[in-house]
Amino acid sequence: MDRSRSYCCFVFFFTVVLFCNAASFNLTTTPFDDAYSPLFGDGNVVRSPDGNGVRLLLDRFTGSGFISSSMYQYGFFSTNIKLPSDYTAGICVAFYTSNGDVFEKTHDELDFEFLGNIAGKPWRFQTNLYGNGSTHRGREERYSLWFDPTKEFHRYSILWTPTNIIFYIDQVPVREVKRSEEMGGDYPSKPMSLYTTIWDASNWATSGGKYKVNYKFAPFVSEFKDLVIDGCAVNPIQQVPTGACSDKHAQLEARDYAVITPARRRAMRRFRERYMYYSYCYDTLRYPVAPPECVIIPSERQRFKETGRLRFGGSHRPRRSKRGSHPSTPADESEQAEMR
Ligand SMILES: *[C@@H]1O[C@H](CO)[C@@H](O)[C@H](O)[C@H]1NC(C)=O
Ligand SMILES: *[C@@H]1O[C@H](CO)[C@@H](O)[C@H](O)[C@H]1NC(C)=O
Repeated sequence: MDRSRSYCCFVFFFTVVLFCNAASFNLTTTPFDDAYSPLFGDGNVVRSPDGNGVRLLLDRFTGSGFISSSMYQYGFFSTNIKLPSDYTAGICVAFYTSNGDVFEKTHDELDFEFLGNIAGKPWRFQTNLYGNGSTHRGREERYSLWFDPTKEFHRYSILWTPTNIIFYIDQVPVREVKRSEEMGGDYPSKPMSLYTTIWDASNWATSGGKYKVNYKFAPFVSEFKDLVIDGCAVNPIQQVPTGACSDKHAQLEARDYAVITPARRRAMRRFRERYMYYSYCYDTLRYPVAPPECVIIPSERQRFKETGRLRFGGSHRPRRSKRGSHPSTPADESEQAEMR
């Protein structure tokens, strides 16, 4: 069986296994203008005619982005995304929560960052978090995807509660971070806005900056629709009486997407076995002692080198070419070596 065919069978099998009996989340979407506004590159923020979506463009003059009109202390943030196709090296599309504009020195952040690629090579993505200004302690994980994110819309979601954080793709949890005492302020806890952006990240996004944005292929168009925010809207400056959001928190924790059922946990494990190719938890060069939230799984650890990257041949994947990079971490060099 040739490689591409075996890959197709594999994807088919994996998708069936993942999605059988996986009913969609019960979501209430909000029209774009009711909850969001342009953040930069306003001319490149193009609303859809039905008001439920928006296109963000990157051209040689500017990228673009939008921001939620309110800030939320805990919540579920979710959107359908279709990424730009063809040559997208150097591009970063980000879907994230942050309060960096309000708390410059002590900001919190939760990230999905999608990293473009040269023609014929797939998009990759990373997740990350910061709490109370922990910018010198990156918590990146990097992954490839089990589908082509430029062909159809897929739903990307961040659940953030007082006790845990879950990153979802469709109904599959790809990462969970449980709050622990030892994490202290590194666990995001102050109100955050939702941000969505497309921008030129030529200096790091693709193979550690080797491949830049090529504006011959501009504009690069990313599409967003059916946006969901389910959280407690608060004013970050006012001292909110503790308890003001407790009903909302209880509501959030009772939602379908706040629960990792055994089937979802199996799907998460399978996803991480097959698609995660870097984890800060296994990067012992960077963190000789794994940060406290890391759950070290011995079988998983075996697959990673001390750089936190997959061992050569340690992958279950038939393809070598999709490995990616992550910014400002020691793994960039090994990524470049793999791409050559
Ligand atoms: C879906 O959510 C709505 C609003 O939160 C709720 O009224 C409805 O009962 C839910 N439906 C199901 C099937 O859970
Ligand atoms: C966040 O950082 C500030 C400034 O360093 C510190 O005063 C505060 O106690 C920290 N908060 C938490 C929750 O750790």
